[in-house]
Order: sequence, then C-alpha cells, then structure tokens
Amino acid sequence: MFNKMAEVRENIPLSGGHYLLSLYSPAQARVTRPGQFAMLRLPNRSDILLRRPMSIYDVKPASRKSKSPALIQVLYKVVGRGTGAMAELKGGDALEVLAPLGHGYFREDYQRKLPQVDEVVHVAGGIGIAALLLAARELHKRGIRQRLFFGGRSRADLVCYKDFGGLVQKTILATEDGSRGHKGFVTVPLENHLAGSERGKILLMVCGPWPMLEACVGLARNYGHPCLVSMENRMGCGVGVCLGCSIGVKGEGHGAYERVCTEGPVFWADHVRWAGGTPEI
Ligand SMILES: Cc1cc2nc3c(=O)[nH]c(=O)nc-3n(C[C@H](O)[C@H](O)[C@H](O)COP(=O)(O)OP(=O)(O)OC[C@H]3O[C@@H](n4cnc5c(N)ncnc54)[C@H](O)[C@@H]3O)c2cc1C
Ligand code: FES
Repeated sequence: MFNKMAEVRENIPLSGGHYLLSLYSPAQARVTRPGQFAMLRLPNRSDILLRRPMSIYDVKPASRKSKSPALIQVLYKVVGRGTGAMAELKGGDALEVLAPLGHGYFREDYQRKLPQVDEVVHVAGGIGIAALLLAARELHKRGIRQRLFFGGRSRADLVCYKDFGGLVQKTILATEDGSRGHKGFVTVPLENHLAGSERGKILLMVCGPWPMLEACVGLARNYGHPCLVSMENRMGCGVGVCLGCSIGVKGEGHGAYERVCTEGPVFWADHVRWAGGTPEI
C-alpha cells in the first residue's frame, strides 16, 4: 500500500451521474489485485476532510505501446460533496491516492472454492459493478465460466457492463422501471437461474446496496451455493486504525466485529451477521 499523488488523465462523464476516472499511478496499478480499493483525497479541499473509499475498477497500460499497468480507473457515482468535487476534476489535476487496500476476491481460502464450482455468478447492484471487473478478468484468464446479473433503478444506472462482454458467457440486465432488461429487481432473474442449478456448483460474487446483498445472500443460502460479498461502509482511515468501518460478524467478543477496510471488503456471506438489510454494528 502506498500514498501517492496521482495525475488525473481523464474523468469521463457517463449516464446517470456516473464518471470513469483514470489516474496515472504505475506503482499502485502494478500491485492491485481484483476487489481491492483506494482511498482518494482531494488536495486543496480542506472542507472535504476524509478520504473517500472507491473500488479499483480497472488497471490499464498508459499507452498502446506499453503492456505494464500504469493507470488506475475508478468508476463512481456522484452522491454527495466528495464525489461532487471529484466530478469537477480535469486532466492534469492531482489527487492523493492511498492504494491498494483490503484483500480482494482471491484470498487463499476464497480461491480454494474455485475448483469445486462450475460457474461464477457476479451480481451487481448499481455502482457495485465497480468492484467486479478485475475479478471477472482474472477468472476469464483461468478459464472459469461466468455470468453477470446487473440491476439498477433505470437504464442510466447500467454503466460499463459492455466491459464484461468478452469475459462472461452471459449478461442479464434488470431495471426497476423496466427501461432496460427485466422489469423489477435483479434478484428475480437471479433466482430463476439458481433454481435450476445443482447445489454448491455456483460461486456468487455480489456487490451492491445492503438490502440487495441481503437478498442475494438469502438466495445463495436457499439454493446451497457459496457466496462472497464485497461490503461498503462509511470509512475514516481505510487502514484499520479508526474502527469506523466495523461490521458484525459471527464470533464472540472482539471477534464479533471485523473491519471492512482490512478484514474485507470481501467476506464470506455466512460470516457476516445480517440484521434487516444492514450488517449489525
Ligand atoms: C470499499 C468501498 C468501495 C467503494 N467503491 C465505490 C465505487 O467504486 N464507486 C462509488 O461510486 N462509490 C463507492 N463506494 C462508496 C463511496 O465511498 C461513497 O459514495 C462516497 O464516499 C460518498 O462520498 P460523498 O462525499 O460524495 O457523499 P457524502 O456526502 O459523504 O454522503 C452522501 C450519501 O452517500 C452515502 N455514503 C457515503 N459514504 C458511503 C459509503 N462508504 N458506503 C455507502 N454509502 C455511503 C451517505 O450515507 C449519504 O447518503 C465505496 C465504498 C466502500 C466502503
Ligand atoms: S476505516 Fe478506519 S478502521 Fe476501517
């Protein structure tokens, strides 16, 4: 993990208040693993004190001639002051980047499940898609069959799913207003798929709002499949010191809480204590 000033190369507006930010930071890009995140701080904005956590969506070479990753890409949605200020960034601006943080989808005990399953099913709710692309690419390299379920409120929320095109065998879209894909929650087509599957043969990787996580975790449990969840929580430090990101997990005493920033952000779903849509704190 390094703290670096990174140069903004691009900050491209997409639909629905989403942006794709490219940051030049070769040392961090080279060591990033799928599912890790960055803490971003805007210099010269003393009114925005805390760094904002963002998944590392992609890592790329800085030019066509090079093969080595040098750019970190962050896919974000404007929801408040910090992300609003990020939307104003232009090429040539600088951003303080603390990354890569957390362990991602390929922790040793998570990887041990892969040979036992026939398929990995990614489930993304809204901006949760940002945590899944690097994992899909790694799984594609390993020749693992994959499927993406992606849900949002409307079609404007369904950003960047085409990046998964060459990596997953099938993409299933859903919108609450019916403007693209299935009308309703993404968990409906997901359940149809799980209902026809052999128990234990699918590994789910899920990232999205907490109510959606909880619904997916329930489905995984009902149909007998292992499930990894990438958790989001408010964060202070991002490096395990402030305890602000703690969530309730199964265990006793101090063991009953873990930090999303260091023990996560990816957890086994059945390790988390779920309490009515949000993990217990
Ligand atoms: C590990 C991790 C990875 C994340 N990856 C991404 C990503 O790739 N793209 C992206 O757009 N967002 C991501 N988030 C959420 C992102 O950090 C928040 O949206 C951002 O910090 C909001 O900052 P703000 O100042 O704009 O909003 P604020 O003004 O602080 O808050 C605006 C609204 O957003 C909610 N909010 C703020 N922080 C969070 C949070 N951490 N989790 C959930 N809701 C929050 C608040 O409750 C409030 O309703 C991630 C969060 C975590 C913990
Ligand atoms: S954000 Fe400070 S301990 Fe996780």
